[in-house]
Amino acid sequence: MVSPADQDRLYFPATERNRGPIGDVLAEMLPEQGSALEIASGSGEHAVTFQRRFPGILWQASDPDPSHCKSINAWIEHESLSALMPQALQIDVLEPSWPLPEHLSVDLKVIVAINLIHIAPWSCCKSLAKQASEILPIGGRLILYGPYRRNGSHTSLSNEAFDQSLRERNPLWGVRDLEAVEKVCFDVGLRNMYVHDLPANNLMISISKSLHI
Ligand SMILES: C[S@@+](CC[C@H](N)C(=O)[O-])C[C@H]1O[C@@H](n2cnc3c(N)ncnc32)[C@H](O)[C@@H]1O
Repeated sequence: MVSPADQDRLYFPATERNRGPIGDVLAEMLPEQGSALEIASGSGEHAVTFQRRFPGILWQASDPDPSHCKSINAWIEHESLSALMPQALQIDVLEPSWPLPEHLSVDLKVIVAINLIHIAPWSCCKSLAKQASEILPIGGRLILYGPYRRNGSHTSLSNEAFDQSLRERNPLWGVRDLEAVEKVCFDVGLRNMYVHDLPANNLMISISKSLHI
C-alpha cells in the first residue's frame, strides 16, 4: 500500500546520474563534522543521499516550493533518516534573511546549490552569494553545481542547446558565465575558486569566504 508520505516523494531523474560524481567531489571538500545547508534541494534525493554518505555532517535541505519541502521530508522518512536529518526549511534565496535555526548557523561549513543559478533569475545568484558571505564562517565554502559558459563560450553544443531551451522557457534563465559568477562572489568576499569538471559538461565550483573583503 502507498502511504501518504510515499505519494509526496518526487523523483528528479538527473539526480540518479549526478549524485555519485557530485558526492565524490563533496567527499574531497567536506570536513568530518559540521553542518551543510543545501539551497534548492528540489525532490530531496540529493539531500538524503549525501546525509547517508556523510554521516558526520548535519545535512539541512531547503527549497521555497512547499511541494518540494514535502517531498524532501517524505524522502527523509522513507530513508529512515529522521533521527539524523532535520526537516526541510522553506528558503527562497531572494528573501533578505533566511530562517536558519541556531544549531545550524553555529556549525555551518558549506552552502551547496545544485542546478539552481541557471534555472532562476541572475538576481538569485547575486543574493545567494551575498547571503552565503554573510552566514558562512571564514574558510566556509559556497559550492555550486551546474553547466557554465567559460571565457565567453559554451563548453559544448549540448550546453548551448540547453541554454537556448532555458531562455525560451524564461528569458531571465540561462547558463551563466563562470567569470561573472566568480566576480559576483569576489565582490562579497568569496574568493579562491576551485573548479572541478564533472560528467555531461557540468562543473562543480567551490569558493571560500575570505578574511578580507
Ligand atoms: C532544477 S531544480 C534543482 C533541484 C535539485 N537541486 C536537483 O538538482 O535536482 C531547481 C530548484 O530551485 C528551486 N528554486 C527556484 N527558485 C529559487 C529561489 N529563489 N530560491 C531557492 N530555490 C529556488 C526550485 O524550487 C527547484 O527545486
